[in-house]
Amino acid sequence: MIDLHNHLLWNIDDGSATVEETTDHLRAAEEIGVVALVCTPHLYHPQYPAVTPGLIRERLADCRRLLPADSSLRLFSGAEHYFSEDFLRAIQRQEEIVSINDGQYILLEFGPFFTMHGADHMVRALRARGCTPLIAHPERHSYLNGHSATLSRLMEQGCNFLMNSKSLTGRYGRQIQETAQRLLQMGFIHAIASDAHSASGMRTHYPDAFAWTMEKWGRQAAELLFLINPWLILHGLPTVPFFDEFALQQTLKIHGVMDS
Ligand SMILES: [Fe+2]
Repeated sequence: MIDLHNHLLWNIDDGSATVEETTDHLRAAEEIGVVALVCTPHLYHPQYPAVTPGLIRERLADCRRLLPADSSLRLFSGAEHYFSEDFLRAIQRQEEIVSINDGQYILLEFGPFFTMHGADHMVRALRARGCTPLIAHPERHSYLNGHSATLSRLMEQGCNFLMNSKSLTGRYGRQIQETAQRLLQMGFIHAIASDAHSASGMRTHYPDAFAWTMEKWGRQAAELLFLINPWLILHGLPTVPFFDEFALQQTLKIHGVMDS
């Protein structure tokens, strides 16, 4: 599995508080078979004003040093960019943002002040800068999940959608769980990530959601959401729609074994 969304970097947001917690988080990821983690602390979030791209990169470099020499786990840069005026200004001024593995995808979290007009503006600004928005947990936002027209419009504008594994397993309640399953069924979801804030979240919800997806949709569909599309996103490549078996086979033919 390749996890595109988590809060494992310590003492930076509401994720790991200490180096020890981060170490446990990394151990948990290895135990469940994660091969790559994109570290995505909150950025431009009003609750964490001290977080900057520079701080994220510094903490990521420190975190890489925690990995044992023989670890097969790889860590990549990223951030969960909060939908805000500050973030829009930063995009327009060409200030530094933290895209996934410094490629074209940028993880974007819509807050409670979402409007379609504001989202249009934000998505246009990101597209003009050559970025592909990857919208975090659309199933958790009532203004998105009840309106497939809104999601369709964002998708037509080139956005991809990243679901939380915890939504599928019912961590946020039955309503969000049902919405998550429905959005998956409707083909809106490109990938599933842990959004884990601790080692226990990594050890439970993430593998449980993989198992659920495999049981309901089959192994190939589960691999598409947890490994193949995350690999394509990590490398800045177009994703495969869920669940287009022909497109998946074509992509696998082009890229072969995704081992880097
Ligand atoms: Fe998050």
